Amino acid sequence: MREKEVKHLISIEQLSIQEINNLIKVANDIITNPTKYSDKCNGKILATLFFEPSTRTRLSFESAMLRLGGKVLGFSEAASSSVSKGESLADTIQVVSLYSDIIAMRHPKEGAPLVACNNSNIPIINAGDGGHNHPTQTLTDLLTISREKKRLNNLVIGLCGDLKFGRTVHSLITAMSRYKNIKFILISPKELELPEYIKKEVLDKNNIEYIETHDILEYMSQLDILYMTRVQKERFFNEADYIRLKDYYILDKDKLKTAKEDLCIMHPLPRVNEISTSVDNDPRAKYFLQAKYGVFIRMALILKLLEVK
Ligand code: NCD
Repeated sequence: MREKEVKHLISIEQLSIQEINNLIKVANDIITNPTKYSDKCNGKILATLFFEPSTRTRLSFESAMLRLGGKVLGFSEAASSSVSKGESLADTIQVVSLYSDIIAMRHPKEGAPLVACNNSNIPIINAGDGGHNHPTQTLTDLLTISREKKRLNNLVIGLCGDLKFGRTVHSLITAMSRYKNIKFILISPKELELPEYIKKEVLDKNNIEYIETHDILEYMSQLDILYMTRVQKERFFNEADYIRLKDYYILDKDKLKTAKEDLCIMHPLPRVNEISTSVDNDPRAKYFLQAKYGVFIRMALILKLLEVK
C-alpha cells in the first residue's frame, strides 16, 4: 500500500488562493474563539530547528503550538546542535522527525528545506531559507492586510528597502501577484533592486503592473500599503556596502505627510533604523499588530498540515 503523502510548506505558491483564504478564515476564528482551539494539538510535538537567528518567527511558532495544547522542542542556533560536530542536515532531520510530529526550520542556505522534505515523513515548514522564501511571514502579512484593509484585491503596495535579499518581499510579491488589480511600487537603492528572476517569472508572467523608484516620497500619496524592510546585513559580502546602504530609508512623520489616512504601514521586523520610533503611535503603524497576527495564522497552518479537524 502506498504511504500517505506528507504535506509540507516550502514556498507560498504551494498554497492555492482558496487554501490561503481558508487559513485566514481559521485564523480569524481563532482570534474570536481562542478557547475552542486550546486542546486541538494535545499530545503533538512541534520541533523548531533554527540554524539562523530569529525572535518572532521561532517564538510565534512555539506560542502557536502551545496555544493549541501541544508541546515544543528544538534549538535556536546551529552551534547548540550536532551540526557543529559536522552532522548533515539530512541526518538531523531524519532523527528529529522521529522525536516530533511537525518541524519548522530556518536555514541560511536557499533550498535547505527541500533537502529536509526529502528526509522527513512528517510535515516541514520553511521558516526562512537564505534570501529566498519566507512563506509563513507572507501568511502573516496576508492576514494583516485582509484584516486591516478588508480586502486582498485592488491595492497599491509599496515595498521599500532591501528588495534584493529580503525573502519576505519575494514571498509577498509572489502571493499578491495572484490577487486582482494589484500594483507594486518597488522602492530601493539601485544595488538592492528586486532580482530579475522575480520581475520576469512572477511580475511579467502575471502581467502585474510595477514601477521601480529609489525615491520613497514619489508615490507615497498613492499607496494603500507601505511595507518597510531591513537591509539584510547577513547577506552582504562587503561590510562597507552595508554601512553605505543601511540607513538609505528612514520613515518618519514628515515623510508620511502626503500619505493616505488609511495607509497600512507594515514591517516583518526586526526593525533597525528604517522606521523612526516616532511613527509607532501613528494609527497607520501596523507592524506590532502584524507580529501578533503571526501566532494565529501559524496556529491555522499547524492545524492544516497535521490535518486536525
Ligand atoms: C524577517 C526574516 O527573517 O526574513 N524576519 C521575520 O521573520 N519576521 C525579516 C528580517 O529579518 O529582516
